[in-house]
Amino acid sequence: MSDTLSNEIKKEVDKRRTFAIISHPDAGKTTLTEKLLLFGGAIRLAGSVKARKASKHATSDWMEIEKQRGISVTSSVMQFDYLGHRVNILDTPGHQDFSEDTYRTLTAADSAVMLIDVAKGVEVQTIKLFQVCRKRGIPIFTFINKLDREGKSPFELMEELEQVLGIRSVPMNWPIGMGRELSGVYDRMKNQVELFNGDDHSKIEVRPVSDYRDSVIREMAGDFMADQLIEELELLDVAGDPFDIDKVQAGELTPIFFGSAVNNFGVQTFLENFLQLAPKPTPRVSTEGEIAPTDENFSGYVFKIQANMNPAHRDRIAFLRICSGRFERGMAVRHVRNGKQIKLSQPQQFLAQDRDIVDVAYPGDIIGLFDPGIFRIGDSLSQKSDIIFDELPTFSPEIFAKVTVKNALKHKQYQKGLDQLTEEGTIQVFYSTGNFDETILGVVGQLQFEVFEHRMRMEYGVEVQLHRMSFQFARWIVDERIDPSKFRINSTLVKDKKGNFVALFENEYAMRTAMDKNPNSKFLETAP
Ligand code: G4P
Repeated sequence: MSDTLSNEIKKEVDKRRTFAIISHPDAGKTTLTEKLLLFGGAIRLAGSVKARKASKHATSDWMEIEKQRGISVTSSVMQFDYLGHRVNILDTPGHQDFSEDTYRTLTAADSAVMLIDVAKGVEVQTIKLFQVCRKRGIPIFTFINKLDREGKSPFELMEELEQVLGIRSVPMNWPIGMGRELSGVYDRMKNQVELFNGDDHSKIEVRPVSDYRDSVIREMAGDFMADQLIEELELLDVAGDPFDIDKVQAGELTPIFFGSAVNNFGVQTFLENFLQLAPKPTPRVSTEGEIAPTDENFSGYVFKIQANMNPAHRDRIAFLRICSGRFERGMAVRHVRNGKQIKLSQPQQFLAQDRDIVDVAYPGDIIGLFDPGIFRIGDSLSQKSDIIFDELPTFSPEIFAKVTVKNALKHKQYQKGLDQLTEEGTIQVFYSTGNFDETILGVVGQLQFEVFEHRMRMEYGVEVQLHRMSFQFARWIVDERIDPSKFRINSTLVKDKKGNFVALFENEYAMRTAMDKNPNSKFLETAP
């Protein structure tokens, strides 16, 4: 490889920070994202992300908004530049039903920002998302939001992180008062205070200080707050964990930042510290070992497929995380699963407002590839060898429904829709092995069924009916001789698209019984 190319890739990789914000709905993710984009100059008007936000309540609203916006509410990607860095934010929906999608998106991130509402502390959705990040061992940064409201004390929150999530934390800044009494935060790393000014807290003043005992704080925040701050920080100095970058990078220690996204308070310091501490694109595990981002050959994998990004064109977009090399528009790469060479001719990049055609991109970037139906979630693309990335978690479906088409004349379109939608990888299809010819769909979240019905109607003009079934577990059976009679009680034996046998069970007991009766079979949670 030429030195110039290698240097160029290295320089671009060093600049990049690709992360996801994880939180429970309502913690303020949309607000924080918007403030970050404002700093990066990616948007000019506050409210533009907010306006595009999906309704938190109804499915139908979600779909309407998805259509009107023409860009996905599920895991869209936003890119901006700030202080010499190129920042990619992966937006993950907080909606519980999209957890599978969210989990997949998290594999494309190199670090995560965990956003917590100061009054609510660690919530259910946060726990789930945290665990996925934990498993991947990526660094997690914590932003405690809504400091302008009364909430739990910082010590209580640190305790909660440790008790509920099992992670130690190190506060990077510390609030001076809280709620209506909030006067600012003390930055422990830079020895400076950020003070809220004015009754409406609209002005923010940054002042360097010698340490937290500095009289400047006393002058501005009053004796009571100053004394409280000294008391708390003395305790923290003695009893708290020291900052340790290795532990942060290993995901064992989370730096905490306090702030208030809606007031833009503490956001800039958070962003600047985060960019310094967060990792650049990391090597990715593949069948050829770890692939370094600076590897000269372009490679990446599809972590998400989104249909109907643009209502004017019935297009599908495959989201690709670039893992190594340099991407150029029009380049030919190998589609590893089917062994074909394909040309990446209309790649798109996602800014806050719009999609842009991208000419060049580097590891850590996410590009959207126009997908005429050739991609599946998990597909790897590679310039030279047959690298396959092994990044995506797969999930066992937990909700099942029999699908039928209302109008038999539409059978052809129905089959086409079924093939394409299940190909995308979010819905799994099974076929009965008994006397009746039944098609069964399996998903992880109920909303996926609703999206399926909607897309069948809108994209293929087919009305389908879904009849919920009482199965709760799917297990892929690996055995040389399978005896269907052993899967009769509260269970059924079906086949997946590739012809693998899968047993569906109504309850755990039925599953255990089948396992006991078939000691020579392997029961796998996902397809072999
Ligand atoms: P989400 O994407 O995580 O679901 O949260 P979102 O940003 O939509 O924020 C949820 C609510 O919390 C919003 O209020 C938002 O204004 C508010 N919020 C965000 N950050 C802060 C903060 O620092 N302090 C306070 N007090 N509130 C904050 P809403 O009433 O649902 O919407 P809106 O009418 O205010 O826009």
